[in-house]
Amino acid sequence: MCESMTLFFNAQSHHFEPNLRKPFLCSVKRTHFSQLCQPSTENLPPDHGLILVGGSKLSGHVNISGSKNSALAILAGTLCCSKTSKLHNIPDISDTREMFSILQSLGVRVEASNGEVTVDTDGIRSVEPCPESVRQTRGGFFVVGPLLARFGEAVVALPGGCDIGTRPIDLYIRGLQALGAVVELRDGKVCAFAVNGKRLVGGKFHLDYPSVGATETLMMAASMADGVTTLCNVAQEPEVVDLAWFLNKSGACVEGEGSDTLVIKGRNQLHGPEFTIIPDRIEADKLSAAGCKIIETTQNTLEISALPGDIARDIRGVHVKTGPFPQFPTDLQPQIMALLMTRNGSSIVEESVFDKRMGHVRELQKLGGRIQVCGNTAFIKGQDHGSALYGTTVCATNLRGGAALILAGMAAEGITKIDGVAHIDRGYQNLDMKLCSLGANIRRLISLPVCQA
Ligand code: EPU
Repeated sequence: MCESMTLFFNAQSHHFEPNLRKPFLCSVKRTHFSQLCQPSTENLPPDHGLILVGGSKLSGHVNISGSKNSALAILAGTLCCSKTSKLHNIPDISDTREMFSILQSLGVRVEASNGEVTVDTDGIRSVEPCPESVRQTRGGFFVVGPLLARFGEAVVALPGGCDIGTRPIDLYIRGLQALGAVVELRDGKVCAFAVNGKRLVGGKFHLDYPSVGATETLMMAASMADGVTTLCNVAQEPEVVDLAWFLNKSGACVEGEGSDTLVIKGRNQLHGPEFTIIPDRIEADKLSAAGCKIIETTQNTLEISALPGDIARDIRGVHVKTGPFPQFPTDLQPQIMALLMTRNGSSIVEESVFDKRMGHVRELQKLGGRIQVCGNTAFIKGQDHGSALYGTTVCATNLRGGAALILAGMAAEGITKIDGVAHIDRGYQNLDMKLCSLGANIRRLISLPVCQA
Protein backbone atom coordinates (compact mmCIF):
# COMPACT_ATOMS: atom_id res chain seq x y z
CA MET A 1 0.00 0.00 0.00
CA CYS A 2 1.26 3.46 -0.77
CA GLU A 3 1.19 5.80 2.22
CA SER A 4 1.19 9.56 1.69
CA MET A 5 3.78 11.47 3.67
CA THR A 6 2.86 14.62 5.57
CA LEU A 7 5.45 17.38 5.43
CA PHE A 8 5.83 20.25 7.86
CA PHE A 9 7.28 23.61 6.87
CA ASN A 10 10.24 24.51 9.06
CA ALA A 11 10.58 28.28 9.27
CA GLN A 12 14.24 28.03 10.34
CA SER A 13 15.50 25.81 7.53
CA HIS A 14 12.89 27.08 5.00
CA HIS A 15 12.22 23.49 3.98
CA PHE A 16 9.36 21.08 4.28
CA GLU A 17 10.17 18.21 6.62
CA PRO A 18 8.32 15.01 7.55
CA ASN A 19 5.69 15.74 10.17
CA LEU A 20 4.89 13.31 12.93
CA ARG A 21 1.82 15.19 14.13
CA LYS A 22 -1.59 13.61 13.84
CA PRO A 23 -2.92 14.57 10.39
CA PHE A 24 -5.10 17.65 10.52
CA LEU A 25 -8.62 17.22 9.21
CA CYS A 26 -10.73 20.03 7.90
CA SER A 27 -13.80 20.45 10.06
CA VAL A 28 -15.75 22.42 7.43
CA LYS A 29 -17.78 20.17 5.13
CA ARG A 30 -15.94 19.62 1.85
CA THR A 31 -17.28 20.42 -1.56
CA HIS A 32 -17.85 17.43 -3.83
CA PHE A 33 -15.17 18.06 -6.41
CA SER A 34 -16.41 15.25 -8.57
CA GLN A 35 -19.39 17.47 -9.41
CA LEU A 36 -17.47 20.72 -9.79
CA CYS A 37 -14.23 19.73 -11.49
CA GLN A 38 -15.30 16.96 -13.81
CA PRO A 39 -12.87 17.08 -16.74
CA SER A 40 -14.90 18.13 -19.73
CA THR A 41 -13.76 18.48 -23.30
CA GLU A 42 -16.23 21.38 -23.60
CA ASN A 43 -14.04 23.45 -21.27
CA LEU A 44 -10.80 22.88 -23.12
CA PRO A 45 -9.67 25.92 -25.10
CA PRO A 46 -10.03 25.34 -28.83
CA ASP A 47 -6.75 24.94 -30.67
CA HIS A 48 -6.75 28.32 -32.34
CA GLY A 49 -4.12 30.66 -33.62
CA LEU A 50 -3.70 34.26 -34.71
CA ILE A 51 -2.79 35.29 -38.23
CA LEU A 52 -1.13 38.71 -38.46
CA VAL A 53 -0.23 40.69 -41.53
CA GLY A 54 2.56 43.08 -40.61
CA GLY A 55 3.02 46.71 -41.51
CA SER A 56 -0.32 48.30 -40.59
CA LYS A 57 -0.29 51.82 -39.19
CA LEU A 58 -2.42 52.22 -36.06
CA SER A 59 -4.80 55.07 -35.32
CA GLY A 60 -7.90 55.55 -33.17
CA HIS A 61 -8.92 55.00 -29.53
CA VAL A 62 -9.45 51.99 -27.31
CA ASN A 63 -10.38 51.56 -23.67
CA ILE A 64 -8.13 49.57 -21.42
CA SER A 65 -9.69 46.61 -19.57
CA GLY A 66 -9.56 46.15 -15.82
CA SER A 67 -6.29 44.93 -14.33
CA LYS A 68 -5.93 41.13 -14.36
CA ASN A 69 -3.67 40.96 -11.33
CA SER A 70 -5.77 43.40 -9.35
CA ALA A 71 -8.96 41.49 -10.22
CA LEU A 72 -7.49 38.12 -9.19
CA ALA A 73 -6.39 39.41 -5.78
CA ILE A 74 -9.67 41.25 -5.15
CA LEU A 75 -11.75 38.23 -6.17
CA ALA A 76 -9.79 36.28 -3.54
CA GLY A 77 -10.37 39.19 -1.13
CA THR A 78 -14.16 38.85 -1.46
CA LEU A 79 -13.78 35.69 0.65
CA CYS A 80 -13.02 37.97 3.63
CA CYS A 81 -16.39 39.67 3.18
CA SER A 82 -19.77 38.50 4.39
CA LYS A 83 -22.74 39.12 2.11
CA THR A 84 -22.31 40.43 -1.42
CA SER A 85 -19.40 42.26 -3.06
CA LYS A 86 -20.18 44.13 -6.28
CA LEU A 87 -17.16 44.50 -8.53
CA HIS A 88 -16.92 46.62 -11.68
CA ASN A 89 -14.36 46.44 -14.49
CA ILE A 90 -13.41 42.78 -13.99
CA PRO A 91 -11.71 41.73 -17.26
CA ASP A 92 -13.35 38.86 -19.14
CA ILE A 93 -10.28 36.63 -19.51
CA SER A 94 -9.68 32.98 -18.81
CA ASP A 95 -7.73 33.67 -15.57
CA THR A 96 -10.69 35.51 -13.99
CA ARG A 97 -13.08 32.80 -15.18
CA GLU A 98 -10.81 30.24 -13.50
CA MET A 99 -10.95 32.35 -10.35
CA PHE A 100 -14.76 32.29 -10.49
CA SER A 101 -14.57 28.46 -10.61
CA ILE A 102 -12.30 28.49 -7.56
CA LEU A 103 -14.79 30.62 -5.61
CA GLN A 104 -17.73 28.53 -6.81
CA SER A 105 -15.99 25.33 -5.69
CA LEU A 106 -16.13 26.75 -2.14
CA GLY A 107 -19.87 27.35 -2.39
CA VAL A 108 -19.66 31.05 -3.30
CA ARG A 109 -22.27 32.43 -5.71
CA VAL A 110 -20.69 34.34 -8.58
CA GLU A 111 -22.64 36.19 -11.26
CA ALA A 112 -20.73 37.88 -14.04
CA SER A 113 -21.93 39.98 -16.94
CA ASN A 114 -20.05 42.58 -19.02
CA GLY A 115 -17.35 43.17 -16.43
CA GLU A 116 -19.86 43.51 -13.56
CA VAL A 117 -19.43 40.71 -11.04
CA THR A 118 -21.36 39.99 -7.85
CA VAL A 119 -19.84 37.61 -5.34
CA ASP A 120 -22.00 36.28 -2.51
CA THR A 121 -19.99 34.37 0.08
CA ASP A 122 -22.80 33.49 2.48
CA GLY A 123 -23.10 29.96 1.08
CA ILE A 124 -19.46 28.97 1.67
CA ARG A 125 -19.40 25.31 2.64
CA SER A 126 -15.76 24.36 2.17
CA VAL A 127 -12.25 25.64 2.89
CA GLU A 128 -10.74 23.54 0.10
CA PRO A 129 -11.04 25.05 -3.39
CA CYS A 130 -10.97 22.82 -6.44
CA PRO A 131 -7.27 21.82 -6.74
CA GLU A 132 -7.37 21.51 -10.54
CA SER A 133 -8.52 25.13 -10.83
CA VAL A 134 -5.94 26.41 -8.32
CA ARG A 135 -3.22 24.69 -10.33
CA GLN A 136 -4.25 26.74 -13.40
CA THR A 137 -3.47 30.17 -12.01
CA ARG A 138 -1.11 31.73 -9.48
CA GLY A 139 -3.89 34.00 -8.17
CA GLY A 140 -5.89 30.93 -7.10
CA PHE A 141 -3.46 30.30 -4.27
CA PHE A 142 -4.14 33.74 -2.73
CA VAL A 143 -7.43 32.36 -1.26
CA VAL A 144 -5.36 30.65 1.46
CA GLY A 145 -5.13 33.99 3.34
CA PRO A 146 -8.81 34.95 3.47
CA LEU A 147 -10.01 31.38 4.12
CA LEU A 148 -7.60 30.98 7.01
CA ALA A 149 -8.50 34.37 8.45
CA ARG A 150 -12.26 33.93 8.20
CA PHE A 151 -12.70 30.22 8.93
CA GLY A 152 -9.51 29.35 10.84
CA GLU A 153 -8.42 26.79 8.27
CA ALA A 154 -7.66 26.30 4.57
CA VAL A 155 -6.54 23.47 2.30
CA VAL A 156 -5.20 24.85 -0.98
CA ALA A 157 -3.34 23.06 -3.77
CA LEU A 158 0.10 24.35 -4.73
CA PRO A 159 -0.39 27.09 -7.33
CA GLY A 160 0.13 27.11 -11.08
CA GLY A 161 0.48 30.14 -13.35
CA CYS A 162 2.81 31.04 -16.20
CA ASP A 163 5.98 28.93 -16.45
CA ILE A 164 8.45 31.76 -15.90
CA GLY A 165 10.51 30.53 -12.97
CA THR A 166 10.62 28.49 -9.80
CA ARG A 167 7.97 30.62 -8.00
CA PRO A 168 8.23 29.25 -4.43
CA ILE A 169 5.68 30.00 -1.66
CA ASP A 170 8.02 30.17 1.34
CA LEU A 171 7.16 33.81 2.09
CA TYR A 172 3.43 33.06 2.19
CA ILE A 173 4.03 30.21 4.59
CA ARG A 174 6.44 31.97 6.91
CA GLY A 175 4.17 35.02 6.95
CA LEU A 176 1.10 32.96 7.84
CA GLN A 177 3.11 31.22 10.57
CA ALA A 178 4.02 34.65 11.96
CA LEU A 179 0.25 35.26 12.25
CA GLY A 180 -0.20 32.10 14.31
CA ALA A 181 -0.98 29.54 11.60
CA VAL A 182 0.27 25.98 11.55
CA VAL A 183 1.11 25.03 7.97
CA GLU A 184 1.69 21.57 6.51
CA LEU A 185 2.21 20.27 3.00
CA ARG A 186 0.24 17.13 2.25
CA ASP A 187 -0.35 15.47 -1.14
CA GLY A 188 0.59 18.62 -3.07
CA LYS A 189 -1.69 20.80 -0.94
CA VAL A 190 -0.96 23.40 1.70
CA CYS A 191 -3.02 22.63 4.82
CA ALA A 192 -3.12 25.52 7.25
CA PHE A 193 -5.03 26.22 10.43
CA ALA A 194 -5.05 28.89 13.13
CA VAL A 195 -3.07 27.56 16.05
CA ASN A 196 -5.74 28.52 18.58
CA GLY A 197 -8.31 26.71 16.45
CA LYS A 198 -10.23 29.87 15.57
CA ARG A 199 -8.47 33.07 14.57
CA LEU A 200 -5.11 34.28 13.38
CA VAL A 201 -3.24 36.63 15.68
CA GLY A 202 -1.60 39.89 14.57
CA GLY A 203 2.19 39.79 14.38
CA LYS A 204 5.25 41.29 12.71
CA PHE A 205 6.75 39.87 9.53
CA HIS A 206 9.57 41.04 7.26
CA LEU A 207 9.42 39.74 3.68
CA ASP A 208 12.91 38.86 2.39
CA TYR A 209 11.67 39.94 -1.06
CA PRO A 210 8.70 42.23 -1.82
CA SER A 211 6.57 39.46 -3.33
CA VAL A 212 3.27 40.68 -4.77
CA GLY A 213 1.30 37.51 -4.02
CA ALA A 214 2.73 37.02 -0.52
CA THR A 215 2.03 40.67 0.38
CA GLU A 216 -1.56 40.37 -0.88
CA THR A 217 -2.18 37.05 0.87
CA LEU A 218 -0.81 38.29 4.19
CA MET A 219 -2.67 41.62 3.91
CA MET A 220 -5.97 39.73 3.53
CA ALA A 221 -5.12 37.34 6.38
CA ALA A 222 -4.08 40.17 8.72
CA SER A 223 -7.26 42.15 7.97
CA MET A 224 -9.22 39.62 10.01
CA ALA A 225 -6.60 38.59 12.57
CA ASP A 226 -6.86 39.50 16.25
CA GLY A 227 -4.75 42.60 16.93
CA VAL A 228 -2.28 44.60 14.86
CA THR A 229 0.03 43.24 12.13
CA THR A 230 3.07 44.97 10.70
CA LEU A 231 4.37 43.75 7.34
CA CYS A 232 7.78 45.10 6.31
CA ASN A 233 9.44 45.19 2.88
CA VAL A 234 6.09 44.60 1.17
CA ALA A 235 5.32 44.92 -2.55
CA GLN A 236 4.22 48.40 -3.65
CA GLU A 237 2.65 47.54 -7.00
CA PRO A 238 -0.55 49.44 -7.93
CA GLU A 239 -2.42 46.12 -7.82
CA VAL A 240 -1.40 45.68 -4.15
CA VAL A 241 -2.65 49.21 -3.44
CA ASP A 242 -5.94 48.41 -5.21
CA LEU A 243 -6.44 45.38 -2.95
CA ALA A 244 -5.79 47.57 0.13
CA TRP A 245 -8.43 50.05 -1.11
CA PHE A 246 -10.89 47.18 -1.64
CA LEU A 247 -10.26 45.80 1.87
CA ASN A 248 -10.59 49.25 3.45
CA LYS A 249 -13.88 49.77 1.62
CA SER A 250 -15.00 46.45 3.14
CA GLY A 251 -14.33 47.82 6.65
CA ALA A 252 -10.69 46.71 7.05
CA CYS A 253 -7.99 49.00 8.42
CA VAL A 254 -4.92 48.77 6.16
CA GLU A 255 -2.47 51.67 6.43
CA GLY A 256 0.68 52.39 4.43
CA GLU A 257 -0.45 51.00 1.07
CA GLY A 258 2.00 51.99 -1.67
CA SER A 259 4.89 52.19 0.83
CA ASP A 260 7.21 49.40 1.98
CA THR A 261 5.44 48.88 5.34
CA LEU A 262 1.82 47.97 6.00
CA VAL A 263 0.17 48.30 9.39
CA ILE A 264 -3.09 46.39 9.57
CA LYS A 265 -5.57 46.46 12.43
CA GLY A 266 -7.58 43.24 12.35
CA ARG A 267 -11.38 43.37 12.29
CA ASN A 268 -13.89 40.70 13.35
CA GLN A 269 -15.95 41.01 10.21
CA LEU A 270 -15.77 42.63 6.79
CA HIS A 271 -18.75 43.38 4.56
CA GLY A 272 -18.90 43.11 0.79
CA PRO A 273 -18.48 46.58 -0.81
CA GLU A 274 -19.07 47.99 -4.28
CA PHE A 275 -15.68 48.50 -5.92
CA THR A 276 -14.16 49.31 -9.31
CA ILE A 277 -10.92 47.61 -10.40
CA ILE A 278 -8.11 49.85 -11.75
CA PRO A 279 -7.25 49.67 -15.47
CA ASP A 280 -4.55 47.25 -16.56
CA ARG A 281 -1.24 49.15 -16.75
CA ILE A 282 0.48 46.25 -18.52
CA GLU A 283 -2.13 46.24 -21.31
CA ALA A 284 -1.79 50.03 -21.62
CA ASP A 285 2.00 49.77 -21.79
CA LYS A 286 1.78 47.00 -24.36
CA LEU A 287 -0.31 49.26 -26.59
CA SER A 288 2.18 52.08 -26.01
CA ALA A 289 4.88 49.77 -27.28
CA ALA A 290 2.74 49.24 -30.39
CA GLY A 291 2.90 52.99 -31.04
CA CYS A 292 -0.10 54.24 -29.05
CA LYS A 293 -0.19 57.09 -26.57
CA ILE A 294 -2.07 57.21 -23.28
CA ILE A 295 -4.35 60.23 -23.67
CA GLU A 296 -6.71 60.15 -20.74
CA THR A 297 -6.49 58.52 -17.41
CA THR A 298 -8.54 58.73 -14.24
CA GLN A 299 -8.55 56.32 -11.34
CA ASN A 300 -10.97 53.99 -13.08
CA THR A 301 -10.73 54.60 -16.79
CA LEU A 302 -7.86 54.71 -19.18
CA GLU A 303 -8.11 55.51 -22.83
CA ILE A 304 -5.41 54.93 -25.37
CA SER A 305 -4.99 56.79 -28.62
CA ALA A 306 -2.94 55.66 -31.59
CA LEU A 307 -1.68 58.74 -33.36
CA PRO A 308 -0.32 58.96 -36.87
CA GLY A 309 3.47 58.94 -36.69
CA ASP A 310 5.51 56.92 -34.29
CA ILE A 311 5.79 58.03 -30.68
CA ALA A 312 8.26 55.27 -29.80
CA ARG A 313 10.60 56.34 -32.59
CA ASP A 314 13.19 57.87 -30.25
CA ILE A 315 13.53 54.75 -28.12
CA ARG A 316 16.85 53.14 -29.04
CA GLY A 317 19.95 51.67 -27.46
CA VAL A 318 18.62 51.39 -23.89
CA HIS A 319 19.51 49.25 -20.88
CA VAL A 320 16.41 47.95 -19.11
CA LYS A 321 16.46 45.98 -15.86
CA THR A 322 13.26 44.61 -14.35
CA GLY A 323 12.56 44.82 -10.63
CA PRO A 324 9.81 45.24 -8.05
CA PHE A 325 7.66 48.40 -8.38
CA PRO A 326 8.55 51.21 -9.00
CA GLN A 327 11.28 49.61 -11.13
CA PHE A 328 10.62 48.41 -14.69
CA PRO A 329 7.83 45.76 -14.60
CA THR A 330 8.83 42.18 -15.39
CA ASP A 331 5.41 41.76 -17.05
CA LEU A 332 6.53 44.23 -19.72
CA GLN A 333 9.97 42.72 -20.30
CA PRO A 334 9.08 40.55 -23.34
CA GLN A 335 7.19 43.43 -24.97
CA ILE A 336 10.00 45.96 -24.52
CA MET A 337 12.33 43.41 -26.06
CA ALA A 338 10.07 43.12 -29.12
CA LEU A 339 10.01 46.91 -29.41
CA LEU A 340 13.80 47.26 -29.09
CA MET A 341 14.27 44.70 -31.90
CA THR A 342 12.67 47.24 -34.20
CA ARG A 343 14.76 50.25 -33.13
CA ASN A 344 18.25 51.24 -34.26
CA GLY A 345 21.05 50.60 -31.79
CA SER A 346 22.09 47.93 -29.33
CA SER A 347 20.04 47.39 -26.18
CA ILE A 348 20.30 45.22 -23.08
CA VAL A 349 17.32 43.75 -21.22
CA GLU A 350 17.97 42.16 -17.83
CA GLU A 351 15.36 40.07 -16.01
CA SER A 352 15.82 40.14 -12.26
CA VAL A 353 12.41 39.10 -10.90
CA PHE A 354 11.87 35.61 -12.36
CA ASP A 355 14.61 33.09 -13.14
CA LYS A 356 13.10 31.68 -16.35
CA ARG A 357 11.46 34.55 -18.22
CA MET A 358 13.38 34.46 -21.48
CA GLY A 359 11.32 31.73 -23.22
CA HIS A 360 10.00 34.21 -25.82
CA VAL A 361 13.50 34.96 -27.15
CA ARG A 362 13.65 31.79 -29.26
CA GLU A 363 10.33 32.70 -30.91
CA LEU A 364 11.41 36.32 -31.48
CA GLN A 365 14.58 35.00 -33.13
CA LYS A 366 12.42 32.95 -35.52
CA LEU A 367 10.90 36.25 -36.68
CA GLY A 368 14.39 37.58 -37.43
CA GLY A 369 15.09 39.25 -34.08
CA ARG A 370 18.84 39.60 -33.46
CA ILE A 371 18.95 38.69 -29.78
CA GLN A 372 21.50 36.76 -27.77
CA VAL A 373 20.80 35.54 -24.28
CA CYS A 374 23.32 34.99 -21.53
CA GLY A 375 21.64 33.78 -18.34
CA ASN A 376 18.90 36.29 -17.60
CA THR A 377 20.30 39.04 -19.82
CA ALA A 378 19.36 39.58 -23.45
CA PHE A 379 21.56 41.55 -25.86
CA ILE A 380 19.53 43.01 -28.72
CA LYS A 381 20.81 44.40 -32.01
CA GLY A 382 18.05 46.65 -33.18
CA GLN A 383 16.96 46.94 -36.79
CA ASP A 384 15.25 50.15 -37.78
CA HIS A 385 11.48 49.69 -37.91
CA GLY A 386 11.70 45.95 -38.03
CA SER A 387 12.81 46.09 -41.64
CA ALA A 388 14.64 42.79 -41.22
CA LEU A 389 11.82 41.00 -39.39
CA TYR A 390 9.82 38.52 -41.44
CA GLY A 391 6.63 36.62 -40.75
CA THR A 392 6.71 32.93 -39.84
CA THR A 393 4.95 30.51 -37.46
CA VAL A 394 5.74 31.05 -33.77
CA CYS A 395 4.30 29.75 -30.54
CA ALA A 396 3.29 31.62 -27.38
CA THR A 397 4.40 29.68 -24.33
CA ASN A 398 3.25 32.21 -21.73
CA LEU A 399 1.05 35.29 -21.47
CA ARG A 400 3.49 38.20 -21.80
CA GLY A 401 5.76 36.34 -24.20
CA GLY A 402 2.68 35.88 -26.42
CA ALA A 403 1.97 39.62 -26.29
CA ALA A 404 5.55 40.26 -27.44
CA LEU A 405 5.02 37.96 -30.43
CA ILE A 406 1.97 39.99 -31.46
CA LEU A 407 4.05 43.19 -31.36
CA ALA A 408 6.88 41.65 -33.36
CA GLY A 409 4.44 40.09 -35.87
CA MET A 410 2.83 43.50 -36.42
CA ALA A 411 6.28 44.96 -37.22
CA ALA A 412 7.40 42.05 -39.43
CA GLU A 413 7.10 41.89 -43.18
CA GLY A 414 4.55 39.34 -44.39
CA ILE A 415 2.36 36.93 -42.48
CA THR A 416 2.96 35.65 -38.95
CA LYS A 417 1.01 32.79 -37.38
CA ILE A 418 0.94 32.64 -33.58
CA ASP A 419 0.01 29.33 -31.94
CA GLY A 420 -0.64 28.85 -28.23
CA VAL A 421 -3.12 31.73 -28.11
CA ALA A 422 -4.77 30.28 -24.98
CA HIS A 423 -1.79 31.73 -23.08
CA ILE A 424 -2.56 35.22 -24.39
CA ASP A 425 -6.28 34.84 -23.64
CA ARG A 426 -5.44 34.18 -19.99
CA GLY A 427 -4.64 37.83 -19.45
CA TYR A 428 -5.79 40.10 -22.28
CA GLN A 429 -9.44 40.76 -23.04
CA ASN A 430 -10.02 40.87 -26.80
CA LEU A 431 -6.48 42.11 -27.50
CA ASP A 432 -6.66 41.07 -31.15
CA MET A 433 -10.02 42.84 -31.59
CA LYS A 434 -8.71 46.01 -29.90
CA LEU A 435 -5.68 46.08 -32.18
CA CYS A 436 -7.88 45.45 -35.23
CA SER A 437 -10.09 48.39 -34.23
CA LEU A 438 -6.89 50.52 -34.38
CA GLY A 439 -6.11 49.26 -37.87
CA ALA A 440 -3.97 46.15 -37.28
CA ASN A 441 -4.55 43.21 -39.60
CA ILE A 442 -5.14 40.24 -37.27
CA ARG A 443 -7.46 37.29 -37.70
CA ARG A 444 -8.25 34.52 -35.25
CA LEU A 445 -8.36 30.92 -36.42
CA ILE A 446 -10.54 28.47 -34.57
CA SER A 447 -10.13 24.78 -35.32
CA LEU A 448 -13.44 23.02 -35.22
CA PRO A 449 -13.55 19.35 -34.19
CA VAL A 450 -13.32 17.01 -37.20
CA CYS A 451 -16.40 14.78 -37.48
CA GLN A 452 -15.56 11.08 -37.67
CA ALA A 453 -17.38 9.24 -40.49
N1 EPU B 1 9.15 34.63 -4.41
C1 EPU B 1 9.81 33.87 -3.47
N2 EPU B 1 9.07 33.33 -2.45
C2 EPU B 1 7.74 33.53 -2.35
C3 EPU B 1 7.08 34.30 -3.32
C4 EPU B 1 7.82 34.84 -4.35
O1 EPU B 1 11.01 33.65 -3.53
O2 EPU B 1 7.13 33.01 -1.39
C5 EPU B 1 9.94 35.18 -5.53
C6 EPU B 1 9.53 34.58 -6.88
O3 EPU B 1 10.18 33.37 -7.10
C7 EPU B 1 9.94 35.65 -7.85
C8 EPU B 1 9.76 36.93 -7.04
O4 EPU B 1 9.62 36.55 -5.69
O5 EPU B 1 11.30 35.48 -8.16
C9 EPU B 1 8.55 37.74 -7.46
O6 EPU B 1 7.38 36.97 -7.33
P1 EPU B 1 6.02 37.60 -6.81
O7 EPU B 1 5.57 36.78 -5.66
O8 EPU B 1 6.16 39.06 -6.62
O9 EPU B 1 5.08 37.33 -8.04
P2 EPU B 1 3.63 36.66 -8.02
O10 EPU B 1 2.85 37.19 -6.89
O11 EPU B 1 3.77 35.21 -8.18
C10 EPU B 1 2.54 38.57 -9.42
C11 EPU B 1 1.80 38.63 -10.72
C12 EPU B 1 2.77 38.37 -11.87
C13 EPU B 1 3.87 39.42 -11.82
C14 EPU B 1 4.56 39.39 -10.46
C15 EPU B 1 5.61 40.47 -10.29
C16 EPU B 1 -0.39 37.86 -10.07
C17 EPU B 1 -1.44 36.84 -10.18
N3 EPU B 1 0.73 37.63 -10.72
O12 EPU B 1 3.06 37.24 -9.35
O13 EPU B 1 2.02 38.52 -13.05
O14 EPU B 1 4.81 39.14 -12.81
O15 EPU B 1 3.58 39.54 -9.41
O16 EPU B 1 5.08 41.71 -10.51
O17 EPU B 1 -0.59 38.89 -9.44
C18 EPU B 1 1.59 38.19 -15.33
O18 EPU B 1 0.60 38.93 -15.18
O19 EPU B 1 2.00 37.83 -16.46
C19 EPU B 1 2.32 37.75 -14.15
C20 EPU B 1 3.17 36.73 -14.17
